[in-house]
Amino acid sequence: MRLSRPWIVALLAGTLTASSVYAAGEQPLTSTRTVSVSQDKLYDALLDALYATFGRHPGFRATHAKGVLVNGTFTASPEAASLSRAAHLQGQPVPVVLRFSNFSGVPATVDGDPMASPRGLAVRFKLPNGESTDIVSHSFDGFPVATPEDFLSFLQGIASTVATPPDPLPLQTFLADHPRARHFLEAPKPAPASYTSIEYFGVNALVFSNRESQEQVIRYRIEPLTGQSLLTEQQAARRPVDYLQEELTARLAKGPAQMRLIVQLAAPGDVVEDGSVPWPRNRREVELGIFTLNSLVPAEDQQSAQQRLDFSPGRLLDGIALSRDPMTLARDRIYRRAVLRRQQP
Ligand code: HEM
Repeated sequence: MRLSRPWIVALLAGTLTASSVYAAGEQPLTSTRTVSVSQDKLYDALLDALYATFGRHPGFRATHAKGVLVNGTFTASPEAASLSRAAHLQGQPVPVVLRFSNFSGVPATVDGDPMASPRGLAVRFKLPNGESTDIVSHSFDGFPVATPEDFLSFLQGIASTVATPPDPLPLQTFLADHPRARHFLEAPKPAPASYTSIEYFGVNALVFSNRESQEQVIRYRIEPLTGQSLLTEQQAARRPVDYLQEELTARLAKGPAQMRLIVQLAAPGDVVEDGSVPWPRNRREVELGIFTLNSLVPAEDQQSAQQRLDFSPGRLLDGIALSRDPMTLARDRIYRRAVLRRQQP
C-alpha cells in the first residue's frame, strides 16, 4: 500500500490507478454500487472497503491506525449536570484515557501528510463503579455522508476508481449526487501544530436527559483552551514524520495540557438525523468540563493498550441516549466487528 499525498486530487481527476495505490500482491475489492445486504453484511462490507482502500495491517485499526494514548482527568462544569444526569457530568473528577490519531488506515502515515487529516480524538471516561462511556470525534465539522449505506457506496466508489482496470464512474456519479461528500474531499484540512491545538467534532447527534427527564439534542465539540494553531501545507511538509507525538511528549514533560468539552445544542429545525450537515456555529453551546492531559501511556504499553481499547460512540450511560441519527448505532456495531477483525493475524 502506498497511498501518496495528492491521492484525493488524483481520485477526483480520475487519474488514480491501482498501480499508484496498491503494492504488488495487494488487490482492491470488486466494487458494486448495489446495496441490498443484511445489516451484518453491510458492516462487514464497510470494513472490507476500508481494507481495500488502505490495505490490511493486522493489529491496527482499519482507519485512524496511527495514534497515541494519553492519561488524564475530566472535571465537569457546574452547568453540565443541568443538561445530563450521566455520572461523569455531576462534578467529581473522573480518570480518562484519550487517543489522538491520524485519519488514514496506514499505520506509517507521515503526520504532516494531508492524508493524515482529519485527526481523531477518542475519549474513554472511567467511572468509579466500573462503567465507562466514550466520545469518538474528528477534526472536521461533518462527514461525507449521512448513512452507512451511503458510506459503503462512497468507499466502494473509491475502490473501483483504483481497481484494475479503473472505473471512476461510480465515484463520479456518487459525488455528483452527494455534494457534501465532494465538499468533505475538497475542503482544506490543515495539519495542527499539536494534537491539542485543533478542534474536534462528535458529528453524530445524541440526546441528553437530566434528572427531571428534560431532553436536549446535542453534538460534542472539543476545543483547545487557547485557540487553534494550524500549519500551512509547506510548514507541515517540513515537520518530522512523528512530530505530533513528539510535540505532545515534550509538552506534557513540562506540565499538563488542557482541552475543553462543549456541547452544541440543537435548535428547532436543525438536522438531527444527518451528521454530514453541520449545525450553524452560532448555536447555543454549553461547556461540559475540562480535560487535563497528564502523561503519555508508557511507550512499552502503547501498542498493547491501543490494541485492547475498543472506543465506540455508542458506549453510552444513563443520561445520554441515541438520537434519530442512524450512524451512532451503526458505528457502534461496526467498531465492535472492527476490533475482532484487527485482532486476527
Ligand atoms: C459509517 C461510518 C463510519 C465507519 C464505517 C467508520 C469506521 C471506523 C472503523 C472501522 C474504525 C476502527 C475501529 C477500531 O478498530 O477500534 C474507526 C475508528 C474511528 N473513527 Fe470511524 N467510522 C465511521 C464514522 C466516523 C465518524 C462520523 C467519525 C467522526 C466523528 C469517525 C471517527 C473515527 C475515529 C476518531 C476513530 C478512531 C477511534 C480510536 O481511536 O479508537 N468515524 N472508524
